[in-house]
Amino acid sequence: VAQLWTARDLAGIRILITAGPTREALDPVRFISNRSSGKMGYALAAAATAAGAEVTLVSGPVTLPVPAGVKHISVESAQDMYAATFQSIDNQDIFIGTAAVADYRPASVATQKMKKGQTDTDITLTLVRNPDILAAVAATQKVFTVGFAAETEHLLEHARQKLINKKINMIAANWVGVDRGFERDDNALTVLWSDGEIQLPYAPKATLAQQLIRVVIERYRQGNV
Ligand code: CTP
Ligand code: CA
Repeated sequence: VAQLWTARDLAGIRILITAGPTREALDPVRFISNRSSGKMGYALAAAATAAGAEVTLVSGPVTLPVPAGVKHISVESAQDMYAATFQSIDNQDIFIGTAAVADYRPASVATQKMKKGQTDTDITLTLVRNPDILAAVAATQKVFTVGFAAETEHLLEHARQKLINKKINMIAANWVGVDRGFERDDNALTVLWSDGEIQLPYAPKATLAQQLIRVVIERYRQGNV
């Protein structure tokens, strides 16, 4: 999977990519989020665009520049990301979910900044489940779906379970945790599908992105939708 494409190889292919973390507001100045940098999603958007694909990037808050030629939609919460995704999904061929979507959000959002109160008692936050964007896109059965599984243990077992549970076409599994995955410029991936897998060894995220796009396109062209 090492060789590159020419700039027209993916002409006519439309890819929607989610990237970055989401932010789940507690009040006007506070939120719950995670350590996702968005680097993998942005690298995939750049690689696919360079190969001639038409890319829409639905992104949570990150500090990365938008790759040239990419249609960029900026969102904040998981619910925003869900809505933005479904606003564009009808015209897509492939969906790649790289976003670290918050699984839960605060049950209510205070309209004013929350105050500590008079006593020094603890408080309890109630969190409610966010919608699963990837599983919802897969359920439409209209696009080829690719997920990511970021795990700290039992990587391949958890990834294959997500492939099955979410009914997606492929999943890219990577280790995360201290010094691995998030916030880094390099990574390694194992890509799984129903009857196969391929190992993409440690490489800069830009290289890995080119390789992953190639693997995805190969499976997509084999008519796996
Ligand atoms: N995902 C999504 N919407 C969510 C949660 C996850 O689209 N609400 C997508 C992610 O973008 C990723 C894949 O689902 O492509 C797997 O995300 P992950 O957090 O690893 O899996 P979860 O199903 O949320 O399971 P858990 O966090 O418990 O491991
Ligand atoms: Ca999750």
